[in-house]
Amino acid sequence: MKILVIGGGNMGLTYAQSFLRSQITSRSDMMILEKSPEKAAELAKKDIGTVFGTPEECLQGADLIILAVKPQDCQRLFETLKPLVDPQQVFLSIMAGVKIQTIADALGVHKVIRAMPNLPAQVGMGMTAFTSSDEVTRIELVMVQNLINTTGKTIYVENEAAIDAATAISGSGPAYVFYFMDAMMQAARQMGFSNSEAELLVKQTFRGAVDLYNKSDLSCAEWIQRVSSRGGTTEAAMKSFTNNSVHMDIIEGSRAALLRAEELGKK
Ligand SMILES: NC(=O)c1ccc[n+]([C@@H]2O[C@H](COP(=O)([O-])OP(=O)(O)OC[C@H]3O[C@@H](n4cnc5c(N)ncnc54)[C@H](OP(=O)(O)O)[C@@H]3O)[C@@H](O)[C@H]2O)c1
Repeated sequence: MKILVIGGGNMGLTYAQSFLRSQITSRSDMMILEKSPEKAAELAKKDIGTVFGTPEECLQGADLIILAVKPQDCQRLFETLKPLVDPQQVFLSIMAGVKIQTIADALGVHKVIRAMPNLPAQVGMGMTAFTSSDEVTRIELVMVQNLINTTGKTIYVENEAAIDAATAISGSGPAYVFYFMDAMMQAARQMGFSNSEAELLVKQTFRGAVDLYNKSDLSCAEWIQRVSSRGGTTEAAMKSFTNNSVHMDIIEGSRAALLRAEELGKK
């Protein structure tokens, strides 16, 4: 299967490299279309397949076309692709907020898969929610899921609206985690630790807590109970978080992200 990645930026490159690293595809089956000549030259040095500068050179030879340009660049891209596409080609879009119907209408195609990855895909720890138009066959869907699995984990959602919800949780989520980490590092520095000590204390605590959670059946609330002894230090922190409605604020923040994803999807 010939794969064409359109847009050799952060995500396009991450995808191409993950597919090749996992040997799910070979260099001879991998094509990248990048409009910036400087970036194309850089990509060509990376040995990640054949790099092209115009769709005329590569689109017709592709079975799967991955749309990895910024959403604001998609209309211009669609205009250049439309005269060249074959309705049997499968399109996988990772562009935030661009709906399946928009892509299908703009290109005159039917087989469209929409995915929302997140940044940890760059280290093989991504979380991707994806969905598809009815015309994508089961075999095509499994094939694409196998490809995305090389960047981390995936869930298939029936309803496209759930892609906006996933954007608010796993798409923006790494920033929420960094926000929490940053606050804890600041607290550590205020307590007298050096920058590097604060960083180590916090990142190892996050990694340890997540590993512990992954290796057990306990819920977050049950783990909090285990760590908090009555009248102890963790309980003091938890009371302060509750009094300051930190839990509620995180839920509200995630809802704000969902509203924004829905708004952007209407544009
Ligand atoms: N980064 C993330 O964590 C993340 C997460 C989820 C989803 N996404 C989605 O992934 C997509 C790509 O994001 P990114 O961060 O990888 O962006 P990026 O680094 O800016 O990469 C996009 C690349 O596409 C190129 N491009 C634009 N128009 C093109 C065209 N017509 N033909 C060929 N190449 C073209 C751009 O070139 P120029 O620079 O010359 O314009 C740029 O190199 C976005 O739609 C975003 O919503 C990203």
